Parts: sequence; structure tokens; C-alpha cells
Amino acid sequence: MAAAGWLQSALRPAGPDATRIYGLWVFMLWISAAVLLVVIGALLYGTFRRRRSRPDSDQQHTRQRRMTRAVATGAGVTVVILFAFLVFDFSVGRALGAPRRSGFEIELVGHRWWWEVRYLAPALPARVTTANEIHIPAGAPVLVRLKSNDVIHSLWVPDLTGKRDLIPGKRTSLWLQADTPGVYRGQCAEFCGQQHAKMALLVVADTRAGFDQWYASQLAPSAVPTDSVTMQGRQVFLTYACALCHTVRGTPAAASLGPDLTHLASRRTIGAGALDNNRGNLAGWILDAQSIKPGVDMPPNHLEPDEAQALLAYLETLK
Ligand code: CUA
Repeated sequence: MAAAGWLQSALRPAGPDATRIYGLWVFMLWISAAVLLVVIGALLYGTFRRRRSRPDSDQQHTRQRRMTRAVATGAGVTVVILFAFLVFDFSVGRALGAPRRSGFEIELVGHRWWWEVRYLAPALPARVTTANEIHIPAGAPVLVRLKSNDVIHSLWVPDLTGKRDLIPGKRTSLWLQADTPGVYRGQCAEFCGQQHAKMALLVVADTRAGFDQWYASQLAPSAVPTDSVTMQGRQVFLTYACALCHTVRGTPAAASLGPDLTHLASRRTIGAGALDNNRGNLAGWILDAQSIKPGVDMPPNHLEPDEAQALLAYLETLK
């Protein structure tokens, strides 16, 4: 039932920032492994070397000097290694934050427990709002401005870059850039309450043409029902609780407590990565989201079977 197929890994960098972080990680790993080997070697040497008979005072002096020299060398090497880590870490941090030419900006708002994604003009023709899925053109840097109105969340798409917190009352930002088209999973990385674990999102990197096409389709208002079932479905949507929290552009539903559903059917998951977006999961989510993701704002909805079927048929048209 859970949304599958998208794995995340910091060890499989797919963008320039993740590649930098990976390089730092590999450097630290090998140096630390070498240090560990040297320490274990010294320990074994000290444990198993043959003890000589009681040394005279001359030998004792020599031994003392050798030990002092060994400890001083060890301390010196440690300082050099830590300093190298510091410099490398600092340079990676600077590179991640360095200004780039961004084609457009995205505002990402963390909610308990989902992600609101707003595409900001001016480079794009007008504003698009979606949820739990960030589309970007591959090969181009996109500035993501991070915001939270409730608690601290943290955006982490390990294949693409490092973590950045979303802090209420404070503006933070992050560059997202993917080398090649692909779908990259991200996860809230700061404990934010009961459903922190089910606060995932997908970054969909597309070709420039593919992205433009996606953006144009998102810009369009919602699909207009063409048959009696979907017409009934839209009626159900507008008369029951749905319209109190959600927006479907092109209808009177314009609330913003929950995700914008104008193009719900174009998204890969529902419930912020909790489930694959298909009819069965959507039905379960609408009727009783609390059993899937206890604590979410989405209330249970008591619908007659024909109303539920009509609503599902309508939602499936919202491509
Ligand atoms: Cu949002 Cu954890």
C-alpha cells in the first residue's frame, strides 16, 4: 500500500551539491579508516610485543624520549587532519551557498505534515501551487525559499543536496539542482510531531521541454466534468467538507488549509508520500485518512457508495 519505488541515498549523488558533499564524506571516511587502522595497529603492537627484562636507567631514558616523541607526533598529525577536515568542510559549505543564476524561484512551505510548493513569478508566466512534488528542469539551479508557519521542519533530498531547516519566522533557502532527469525522494529531517515520518516529497527533474510542458499543464484551471458521474463528483466535492480546506482552481473551492487539488491526478503520491496515488488508496484516504496517517487534519468523510465513486471519478479527471 505504501508508496514505493523511490529510494533516497546520500551515497548516490545526482547533482553538483550532493557530489560535493559526497566528496567530503569519502575524504573523511578514508582518513578516519586510516586513523582507525593505525590506532588498532599501535594497540596490537603494544599488547603483543615481547617484554624485555628490566631495563637499566639509560634504556629507560631512551624509551621515555621515544614515547614523548610518539605522543607529540600523534597530537600533531591529529591537529593537521582536523584542520584539513575543517577547511574542506568550510569550502563545501561555501560552495553550496554560493549565488547562482536561477531561472525561477520556488517557495516551499512546511506544514504538519505535508509540503506546499509555490512557483514564484516573474520568470514564469504566473503562479502555480502544488503539493509534495517539486518539478525542476534538470541541469539548472533553482532557488528554493523555505518557510514554516507551525513548527521546525527540515528539507532533505539526499541525492541532490544537504539538509536545510524550515524555521517559523525565519527565512532560509537552498539550491536544488539535478544533473539528469529523474525522480528523487526527499524527507522531512527534523522531528515535527506524530507524522514526521510520513512527510516525504518527490523532486521530479525533467528536461527543459518536459518541465515547460508540465508547468503549462499546471497553469491551466481544473478539468471541467463532461459526464454525469464526474459532474456529480464535483458536486460532492463542493457540498461536502472537501471545499472547506482545498482549492480546485476553476471551481468555487478556494480554501488553503490543505493541498491544492487542481491537478491532483498528475501527482505520484498522496498524503505527502504516504501512498501511491491510485483510486483504491485515494478512496481509503478520503473515507478514513486517520487510519493511514493518524493525527492529520484530514477528517473522516461519511459518503454514500455512489457519492464516493462519483467523487473518485471526478478527482481522477484532475490531471
Ligand atoms: Cu516535518 Cu518532520
